[in-house]
Amino acid sequence: HSEISRVKNLDKLQIGKHEVEAWYFSPYPIEYAHLPMLYICEFCLLYYPTLTQLARHRAKCTLLHPPGNEIYRHENISFFEIDGRRQRSWCRNLCLLCKCFLDHKTLYYDVDPFLFYCMTLKDDYGHHLIGFFSKEKECPEGYNVACILTLPQHQRKGYGKLLIQFSYELSKVEGKLGSPEKPLSDLGLLSYRAYWQEEIVKLLVNSDEEISLDEIANKTSITHGDIMHTCQALQMIKYYKGQHIIHLTDAVLEQHTKTMSKQKQSIDPSALRWKPPV
Ligand code: COA
Ligand code: NA
Repeated sequence: HSEISRVKNLDKLQIGKHEVEAWYFSPYPIEYAHLPMLYICEFCLLYYPTLTQLARHRAKCTLLHPPGNEIYRHENISFFEIDGRRQRSWCRNLCLLCKCFLDHKTLYYDVDPFLFYCMTLKDDYGHHLIGFFSKEKECPEGYNVACILTLPQHQRKGYGKLLIQFSYELSKVEGKLGSPEKPLSDLGLLSYRAYWQEEIVKLLVNSDEEISLDEIANKTSITHGDIMHTCQALQMIKYYKGQHIIHLTDAVLEQHTKTMSKQKQSIDPSALRWKPPV
């Protein structure tokens, strides 16, 4: 792969009623590169070089939600599970779109080994895609997320946290610990650190007794490594009488109070209708 092919090719994308700028190279077909705008059908993710062509497509396109099973619905948020093997072209188009905002991941043309968990926001018209994460059907390394994306027009509103929380709810149902695939992007790391911190601190605050690393892992499905890194970064680990103790600090508590006062949306585990695929 030459350097030239890696340079950002697309300029802008129109997705539904939003216009967004591409951040990175994405291997859309060469005849679509260097267009002033790529027009994407927000439901089937097909792409067109002109608005006229998209409009012609939209007149025929009947899809109003991602093509999979709705496994979660709470208020206006839904999750659809999509099998890469069954919905190959839809998932490839999702990966093409995702690559516009991800620098370092290899783009998987081979979507067959993955499941895609797509989060949507419902209005009177349909279920609009907000973001998604992919997950390997068989993952010996124990990753519970391969790629994760909030579409740029919806970032910094707490949706990334919902995606991450959902990925851990799936791991809880599986009875497994999970961790995102490495390396994470800077934004990915920031979001995960915020999530891990919130989950760990919530447990510590709501418990009178000391909690062990094992207990935290079992309750949250966060791996021991991710818990340790989070606690170390926050200086929450003390070595006491030959043991590592996790304890809250004033700084962490203060930050926790601030986070809690923001009252953002969260996933309601009781609204999940899902069994691990066999
Ligand atoms: N600057 C600083 N902190 C940020 C941040 C930014 N640009 N984006 C996220 N965070 C941190 C914050 O602590 C934030 O909580 P706060 O808003 O209450 O302060 C927390 O992460 C969660 O943010 P949230 O709004 O839930 O995340 P998001 O919807 O913006 O999605 C990503 C986060 C990573 C999914 C999104 O940035 C993304 O899609 N990036 C491109 C793809 C990518 O890099 N994926 C990860 C690697 S596979
Ligand atoms: Na559209």
